[in-house]
Amino acid sequence: MRRVFAGAGVMAVVLAGAVLAGSGLRVVAAQDAANKPAFYTEKVRPLLQTNCGKCHFDMNRKGGLSLQTKATTMKGGRSGVAIVPGDPANSLLVKLIRHEGPPEDPKPMPSKAPKMSDEDIATIEQWVKAGAVMPDDPAPAQ
Ligand code: HEC
Repeated sequence: MRRVFAGAGVMAVVLAGAVLAGSGLRVVAAQDAANKPAFYTEKVRPLLQTNCGKCHFDMNRKGGLSLQTKATTMKGGRSGVAIVPGDPANSLLVKLIRHEGPPEDPKPMPSKAPKMSDEDIATIEQWVKAGAVMPDDPAPAQ
């Protein structure tokens, strides 16, 4: 009996180690990818289109901000630059989606909708931190 228990214990440790190593690898891979245009195209843009599309994509530029192209995204809106590449803490867009900006003018984003999930906010922050890299000519909205 004792042997069996000891064996199970070793197995559990080995399994836990494998799970931890696996998740560690995934984190490293995601960070590496955050400075590639594909990270924007595959992860960030869909989030922005879903949460901000009604007011900041296509012809919509509420607050003077269009997130449609790289040029308009980097230009910012009425308050000036919304994204400081490499510096999420000083990026108005990040502050607004974290609900850590001013209460009004501009107000927390997305406007008239619940706060985004922590995970989705973290994805956008990670992208800004890695340099807010995006393709020059993003794929058109779907
Ligand atoms: C229902 C419409 C609506 C949605 C959805 C929306 N916004 Fe806005 N956004 C506005 C309006 C209106 C303003 C200007 C309001 C103000 O100044 O308080 C604004 C202003 C902003 C500004 C400040 C622009 C400037 O220079 O003053 C940023 C940054 C911004 N939005 C980002 C986002 C992001 C990112 C999302 C999605 C997560 C989003 N918004 C979703 C309506 C919206």
